[in-house]
Amino acid sequence: MASGDDKSASAIPRHVGIIMDGNGRWATKRLLPRPAGHRAGVKNITPVIESAFDYGVHCVSLYAFSTENKARPESEVNALVDLIRKRLRPMTRELIARGAKVVFSGDISYFPEDVRRIMSEICAENTDKTAKTVNIALDYGGREEIVRAARLAAASGEITDSRIRANLYTSELPDLDMIIRTGGEKRLSNFMLYQAAYSELFFTDTLWPDFGKAELISILNEYGSRTRRFGKL
Ligand code: FPP
Repeated sequence: MASGDDKSASAIPRHVGIIMDGNGRWATKRLLPRPAGHRAGVKNITPVIESAFDYGVHCVSLYAFSTENKARPESEVNALVDLIRKRLRPMTRELIARGAKVVFSGDISYFPEDVRRIMSEICAENTDKTAKTVNIALDYGGREEIVRAARLAAASGEITDSRIRANLYTSELPDLDMIIRTGGEKRLSNFMLYQAAYSELFFTDTLWPDFGKAELISILNEYGSRTRRFGKL
């Protein structure tokens, strides 16, 4: 099994973002309705996160439901919300049982009361502040997050980078070291724009439900071979 033990700390990303794209196409290829692809996508989350944690990654952020996803046909939005209602608890229970903590980014006021209650119950279980972290972006948009943080910073009397950072949903998490996007598209689609400033980007044609441990490890190894200069020489 790949392990972070034999790697220098800088070769292992602390924070990995994942844009889980391709669920719809995965289902369509199998003549299944699109929500079947989302269901398959959910099943893939825990094994991928566990492999990342085994590798030495400290935090994984998942793009699970964007502000723009709300504009999809009502039937698909309802199917996604229902999936979150049914699968979020069991999925996070497994991760928490393995020592992780789960946090959320986004405007959760969009979700029905029962779904919001599930989210707050999950957050209440986060006792170990130092635990490995799974950050799930739900009704999340990067621009909205920046605007919200800027407004809060202004209300505190000073718009500075550190005040904006302190008011991001991810104020307690490090910046993204890398982003993996499955499904073939090569864009960020409003995902963690502030935190992605110096992120290394990885794109794969693999559809999210088919994305597995071997490909994850190969991408993490490639990250370790890149030189990050953060604008310096
Ligand atoms: C993009 O695929 C994926 C989404 C819009 C949703 C991703 C959500 C999940 C995997 C589940 C979230 C649930 C929990 C419990 C966290 P797409 O539909 O855009 O695929 P396509 O590009 O092939 O159409």
